[in-house]
Order: sequence, then C-alpha cells, then structure tokens
Amino acid sequence: MIKIKIFPDPIIDYDFENVYRPADDTYLVVDYFKYYLDNDFFDGVPLENIRNVLDMGTGTGYIALSLQIMKAIILKFNPKVYASDILEEAIVLSKHNERLNNCETDIEFIKSDLFKSFPTTLKHLFDVIIFNPPYLPSSNIIQKNKIKKKIDYSWDGGELGFETFLRFLDEAKIFLNLNSNSRIYYVSSSRIDLNLLNELISKKGYERTYLNKIHIFLEDIYLNRLELKII
Ligand SMILES: C[S@@+](CC[C@H](N)C(=O)[O-])C[C@H]1O[C@@H](n2cnc3c(N)ncnc32)[C@H](O)[C@@H]1O
Repeated sequence: MIKIKIFPDPIIDYDFENVYRPADDTYLVVDYFKYYLDNDFFDGVPLENIRNVLDMGTGTGYIALSLQIMKAIILKFNPKVYASDILEEAIVLSKHNERLNNCETDIEFIKSDLFKSFPTTLKHLFDVIIFNPPYLPSSNIIQKNKIKKKIDYSWDGGELGFETFLRFLDEAKIFLNLNSNSRIYYVSSSRIDLNLLNELISKKGYERTYLNKIHIFLEDIYLNRLELKII
C-alpha cells in the first residue's frame, strides 16, 4: 500500500538584510523528514522515543515550524520543539513566523551562540538535533577585517568552512540524550574538504550516515545523520 502524506509548508516572512532565507538546503532537511515520518516512526525511531527536538541555527524558524506542522498531522509525533540562533533578529523573526502559523508559544526559543546560553536543565535532553549550519569558508575580507555582517552568520563557517560545526559537535555531546536513538542531522557542502571534516567527525566519536544530496550549480549539498559511537 502506498502511504500518502501531505504536510503543508509553513508560512514565512523574511528579513532579507540579516536572516537566512530558506533555500534548497533547508528543503533538503525538511523533505527528508516529511518522507521518513509516518504514523509509527521518525526515520526508523519509534515516535514515542522522540520527546525533545532542537533546531539549531533556526533562521526564519522554517525547520522548527515544519516540525510543528508535522506534529499537528501525525498526533503520535509530539516532541517539544526548541529553536535557537545566535542572532536576535532570527529569534524575533521566528517568533513572528510562529504567530503567522498559529503555533504561538509552542516552540521554545533560545538566543545563543551554539549551546553557550542553554540552561543546564537541557543537558542530555535532546533526542534529535538539527543543524543546517554556516558551511562555507570565510571570505578573505572577513578573514582580514575580522568584521562580520549579521547575514554572514548564515554561511560563514570559519576559515575551513567547518570550524563552527566542529565546535557545535563538541558542545552537542552535552545536550544530546545519551540513549541509542539520539541523532544529529546536518548539512554539508562539496565546497569544503569533506574528507578532512569526516575524519574529524569520526575522531570526535560520531558515526556518520549519508542520507541525501542535491546538486546546485557547481556544488553538491549533502544531508547527513550522526549517532554517537558506542564505546
Ligand atoms: C544556513 S543558515 C540556516 C537557517 C535555517 N535553519 C534554514 O535551514 O533555513 C545557518 C543559521 O545558523 C545561525 N548560526 C550561525 N552561527 C551560529 C552560532 N554560533 N550559534 C547559533 N546559530 C548560529 C545563523 O544565524 C543562521 O540562521
């Protein structure tokens, strides 16, 4: 039997000057979840095991809001959704978008540089953490002047393109639920040294699974899943 699920897209307002506008990488993440969520499982994990989900670097709130819409359709899928961003503008915009989609006060927003401002009560809470991170190398101008515009936080992942993501991986260990179902979903790009990144990810104790990719102009964009290696 073919299962047909229709999850509408959230209604989104933009702040073109400061906040990342949802794009193909955002849809790569959300489309995967739409496909692999059914009445019993979220990407193979029983729905009752997914109690807390974090959308790190939420931008407009698109991924967090898509999860809220999925919750409204698949009632057994009922995690508490958290969303955070380093930019105040992203938090303000996401809250506005939450109101547009009539899910006001459902999402817990946290303005934070990665996990820095997360309360200790959230330690080892998250079953799923999603991060569509800034994944491109810094420009020479940013490197030279050390000045970043707000919108640069959308794409500038550091000199190699993945320093912010590596910092995230270290901190995420403290906030991931330590049970065997916990996962991180993240986006990466062929414009960085993926062999090196994958090697460092493995050294940090994560097992990576490639999930999907899209090709845009000269770039491949990948969706990946991480699980903590069992030692
Ligand atoms: C590629 S955008 C993704 C936005 C949104 N999740 C989406 O998929 O449309 C990366 C997001 O990460 C945020 N970000 C960058 N550095 C961050 C940090 N250190 N801590 C938290 N958020 C960060 C940016 O402000 C931006 O909203």
